[in-house]
Amino acid sequence: MTARKRASALTNASTTKERVETHQQPQETATTNPPISPPKTGFIVYLSLFLLAPYFYLLLYHYNVRHDLKRSILINAVLSLAGFFLTVKIIPVASRYVLRRNLFGFDINKKDTPQGTVKVPESLGIVVGIVFLVLAILFQYFNFTADSNWLVEYNAALACICFMTLLGFVDDVLDVPWRVKLLLPSIAALPLLMAYAGHTTIIIPKPLIPYIGSEMLDLGWMYKLYMGLLTVFCTNSINIHAGINGLEVGQTVVIASAILIHNVMQIGASLDSEYQQAHAFSIYLIQPLLATSLALLAYNWYPSSVFVGDTFTYFAGMTMAVVGILGHFSETLLIFFLPQVINFLLSVPQLFGVIHCPRHRLPRFDPRTGLLTGTNDGTLVNVYLRMFGRKSEKYLCVHLLFVQAVGCCFCFLLRYFLAGWYK
Ligand code: UD1
Ligand code: MG
Repeated sequence: MTARKRASALTNASTTKERVETHQQPQETATTNPPISPPKTGFIVYLSLFLLAPYFYLLLYHYNVRHDLKRSILINAVLSLAGFFLTVKIIPVASRYVLRRNLFGFDINKKDTPQGTVKVPESLGIVVGIVFLVLAILFQYFNFTADSNWLVEYNAALACICFMTLLGFVDDVLDVPWRVKLLLPSIAALPLLMAYAGHTTIIIPKPLIPYIGSEMLDLGWMYKLYMGLLTVFCTNSINIHAGINGLEVGQTVVIASAILIHNVMQIGASLDSEYQQAHAFSIYLIQPLLATSLALLAYNWYPSSVFVGDTFTYFAGMTMAVVGILGHFSETLLIFFLPQVINFLLSVPQLFGVIHCPRHRLPRFDPRTGLLTGTNDGTLVNVYLRMFGRKSEKYLCVHLLFVQAVGCCFCFLLRYFLAGWYK
């Protein structure tokens, strides 16, 4: 819970003394908080090399990608790299400002240790969101496609991402009730739903054609409903697979890398220029997402010196959802989201009120051993700990990100084996 959220809880039933203390906090925070720890850049460099090597190998050597596309993709990559350094520079500055406005949280998995008493600045996703939007807006100048029809949908996608970042920040500041929180993405998705003029047909999987009677099915308005539901799922599923240092950003970084590899494989394997364009647009949005998220991870990796806030989880989920929609690979996207799907299914009883849902559904931390134990709350984090035993927070995060990466590899294998048989 952020301090601002706690402050609002206090004012509802506070004594005069509590009010005075709450009121005095901004000044105290501004003067007593030490600067945040430096970014873990060494770790991020190794991680980036590991994640990006297959992508750049495929783009630059393996496939013969059209010259104009490759040029645009590489310009976008250079802009993204600049975005990485900019984000690394801005986060410590923004941290001072959010602390001054009492926007901080306590690290729950370090409770009863000295680290658990440190005020960790919250909602640093706002820096990532802003740098990302600046890059994505500037990039339009460097895309060398002949026609400009793509601009409408590209800008509608940016409007959705911007709207979602705003609503995420509103949630961080106001602590919106859980049921409303679930619906925020459907409001933010409106710009794309209204501007979308692409096809609304789906290709029927070959094994189902005899039952449906045709190879294509026009879903009409239901396609837009599906788009809306996908944005609600992607945003919330990242937000609820969280609470461990590095997990929110880490899962985004792994999925974004998988999306990049998928897109370049699709561009390389196709000769249809419209199809290639659709996947290139995904790359233009995912490269800046990956670069700015890696910069945030440099501060959010264990032990976190900043928290990302719902601003980041909603922003990242929305970006990946619009990219899946405009690139027409939402089924593949959902397989990349496999751990999030499992976490969502495990969460259903608590999310829909069948079982009590506490404010935080985190594992239990033992300050003597420094290990986390799974509780009975229905999350993948807890189930994983119950199945594979107690773990430290850092190794739990590494394990969960490894599971995410294995899920993405499984998706590539599935696509490889089902190609020709499924669609
Ligand atoms: C979602 C989850 C909640 C989980 C929380 C953690 C559901 C329904 N909600 O709620 O169970 O506890 O995310 O993000 O599943 N925090 C840490 N360590 C971290 C990250 C966050 O201790 O690595 C704590 C901090 O106190 C931080 C707070 O979580 O201030 C942020 O929680 P918030 O994002 O507001 O929670 P929700 O998204 O509402
Ligand atoms: Mg959250």
